[in-house]
Amino acid sequence: MSKKKFTAHGNLKDTLNTVKFLTERIKFVNSAEPVLPTPTDDFGVNKVARSLHPKEQSLVITKIEEHSDIAKSYYFKSEGTPLAYFKAGQYLTFKLEIGSSVVTRSYSIASSPASALKGEYQITVKRIADGFVSDYILDNWQVGDNVTAYAPEGNMVYNPLRDAQNIIAIAGGSGITPFLSLARAIAEGDEDCSLTLLYGCRKSDEILFRNELDALSEGNEKINVVYVLSHSDEEGYEKGFVGADIIRKYAPEGKYSIFVCGPEGLYKFLEAELPKLEIERKFIRFEVFSSGKKTDEPKEYTITVINRGDETVIKANSNETVLCAFERGGIVVPARCHTGECGFCRSKLVSGKVYIPEGEDKRRIGDVQFNYIHPCCTYPESDLVVRIN
Ligand code: FES
Repeated sequence: MSKKKFTAHGNLKDTLNTVKFLTERIKFVNSAEPVLPTPTDDFGVNKVARSLHPKEQSLVITKIEEHSDIAKSYYFKSEGTPLAYFKAGQYLTFKLEIGSSVVTRSYSIASSPASALKGEYQITVKRIADGFVSDYILDNWQVGDNVTAYAPEGNMVYNPLRDAQNIIAIAGGSGITPFLSLARAIAEGDEDCSLTLLYGCRKSDEILFRNELDALSEGNEKINVVYVLSHSDEEGYEKGFVGADIIRKYAPEGKYSIFVCGPEGLYKFLEAELPKLEIERKFIRFEVFSSGKKTDEPKEYTITVINRGDETVIKANSNETVLCAFERGGIVVPARCHTGECGFCRSKLVSGKVYIPEGEDKRRIGDVQFNYIHPCCTYPESDLVVRIN
């Protein structure tokens, strides 16, 4: 019987090639020397992951810039490893030791993402009345000091899948910093959105980064800056508070997203104003670092802190968060965002009455049901008993 010769085409040809390839591959693998990675081996992917998401960053203060007597900008470089990259609008959380307390505080990054690649971060700290950590930083941090920060975090960033391409940023006081970063990123070509910045201050001499904001606005048609003064009637400025009328006046054509960063009073005011614009909730983003609930008559309370069976009684103040009372009392609890979002500080409220500002309560439904709180955005309204583990 004569053998018939046939030629494989299409799928059959692919299958035969795959079988041939697999056979050769198995032969190659079996002939290789077994080499297991050792703990000292470092792979490129691990290096990238570590530089993008370092557990902690050791930073050195390289420069301090004073903004009259109300705020200071701090510039940092890294000690050795490259700085973690970030998106404009994110913040850094710093870990500090103040007396016997270990505290964390978050500050929005003012520099542009490109500056991190060149080895520099910038933050700006404003003095607030009786600020536990801000006062410490302003009075103690010096050029050459080493400080510790976690990796940049935060959601108030431009995301083209979620946000409109036109961003209206509403800033109050030192809440300008994330938007300065965004404006710088737009000018450097790293963000593809347009920015209308409505910057509210009490008086014109309290405007931070005035010269740079003007230069950014004049030099780039995607950036428009409007100053709004609440306590002074000066020519060339809007007068009053940034509310629905001013937003409508400067809003670009079409859809826009609203980003807000500033003191608590600004959020309270906008709570009543933003619904007038009738825009979808998903187009509104707030950055809220709990800085204090201000009541006319602050009250003193105690918190009994239960930590693995040990009980410690510390003082608390109705105008400060439970986390701040922990920090002042030398109680160490993990904390990162200070906005109620990350859940790092989650603790069990065993008894007592607390106040959680609307919009800052980001607990899971189960946590609400079983009385877990995020101390970073919870204020005491009576003596409390809290379990921290
Ligand atoms: S520190 Fe993030 S929820 Fe409290």
